[in-house]
Amino acid sequence: MTASNQRPDDLSQWQQQAMAVPEEYDLFLGGGRGGGKTHLLAALFLRHCERHQERARCLVVRKSHPGLQDLEAEFRDFFTAVYGDRLRFDGQKHKFTLPNGATVQLDQMEREADFQKYQGKSFSHIAVDEAGQYASPALVDRLRSSLRAPAGVPVRFILIANPGGVGHTWLVRRYALAASWQPYTDEATDFEFVTINSTYLDNEFIDRERYARNLMASCATDPELGRAWLEGDWSVIRGAYFASVLDQQRVMVEPWPRLPSAAPLDMWADGPSGWRYSLAHDYGSAAPSVTFVVAESPGAYGPDRYFYPSGSIVLVDEDSTTHPDDISAGLGLTVPDQASRIVDMCRRWGISPHGVADDAIFNNHGSAAGTIADEFRKAGVHFRRAHKGSRIGGWQAMRRLLADAGKPDKPGLYVSRCCQVWWETVPNLPRDQRNPEDVDTTAPDHAADACRYALTRIEIPHVTIRF
Ligand SMILES: Nc1ncnc2c1ncn2[C@@H]1O[C@H](COP(=O)(O)OP(=O)(O)OP(=O)(O)O)[C@@H](O)[C@H]1O
Ligand SMILES: [Mg+2]
Repeated sequence: MTASNQRPDDLSQWQQQAMAVPEEYDLFLGGGRGGGKTHLLAALFLRHCERHQERARCLVVRKSHPGLQDLEAEFRDFFTAVYGDRLRFDGQKHKFTLPNGATVQLDQMEREADFQKYQGKSFSHIAVDEAGQYASPALVDRLRSSLRAPAGVPVRFILIANPGGVGHTWLVRRYALAASWQPYTDEATDFEFVTINSTYLDNEFIDRERYARNLMASCATDPELGRAWLEGDWSVIRGAYFASVLDQQRVMVEPWPRLPSAAPLDMWADGPSGWRYSLAHDYGSAAPSVTFVVAESPGAYGPDRYFYPSGSIVLVDEDSTTHPDDISAGLGLTVPDQASRIVDMCRRWGISPHGVADDAIFNNHGSAAGTIADEFRKAGVHFRRAHKGSRIGGWQAMRRLLADAGKPDKPGLYVSRCCQVWWETVPNLPRDQRNPEDVDTTAPDHAADACRYALTRIEIPHVTIRF
């Protein structure tokens, strides 16, 4: 095969259709595994290089080093099949130079510092393969600053991802659920995108039956991930930590119009005296902060006329400093600014601003202003340590309460529909690959953390409200 006789039938029908999407659109190649996405990327690069010769400069990044080596082997096979020994490869720079002078560079980009090497460099096509391995889109977005080309050479950004990685949430928010083949504006970056989904069924170059069997076998302990990869269903997620216990129908409650009063509790003459309220807070500045108004039931009806068994926890409201475009980033607010939002939320509910927060805000970093907790106190918000010592114990308590939500005789954990960040992140939190008992800490876990602290409030004096 040579460049000139690279025939359309060398590509699957899906790949041919994807090649026909006008170049002015950036691409999100999603769906399931094995659809031929990476092969399509090589074909897109080849076409660009053939058209624009030495002015074509392509870059593809992956996060992990082993991942990069696999990609290198795939690209080497592909371009060698076209150019034979006229293809040059610089192993040190991971760079292919095609006989027409065009270049295709492969690189690893793991953290902020890795980005420096692209500063000042220009590429006409940039692709991020396995974009779901990035917990936040920040680094991926930054790559765009190197997307520049001489007049007449089109530039294009291409994201490729499978469901279930730590970046699952931001990819779903931006791209993965968009209708295939239809252009749309990615609101976070303001660029025009087309999402193209494929599954292994679109790839006639593999033994599909065997591929499906192998894929399911590779996910024997995590059939949900297997299904997501096979069917390209981004709504089921790899080993989502709470998947087996979190059922929206049982856990979600409609927003409460007000907090329940203590009055109907008179029937529990010697029982608990009333609902108790407090705050639970996970601090961040560059990262998001999340604060919940937490209600603990004495075994009583809520204002929604549902009965909450004694000890049930209801997350009634949420204040979050999550950046609207990036669930992993905060708004960078100062402590007094955060405190004033929290005080406002408490005022709306008529409770006083007391509660628990992560232990880290009690550490003294030698600042004249004291600890972050001190700063909060000065601004009228009183936090105590959540004693988050046992992370896994906390997650287990949360799983148990979620599993018991909806049972008439056991305390459960209930979360208002208005706790948006909780609902956007907690159901999708992946497991830690090294420790399946834990949540992956690189995922957006701030709402989950604050929720976990809410469950450790037991020793904390609660603020009881009576109407
Ligand atoms: N047009 C093609 N011609 C020959 N082989 C192809 C073609 N398209 C895909 N393949 C082969 O099918 C297999 C899967 O393709 P590819 O790796 O591109 O899929 P993918 O969607 O990137 O998979 P993953 O989701 O696992 O990253 C590879 O072995 C690839 O070489
Ligand atoms: Mg691939």
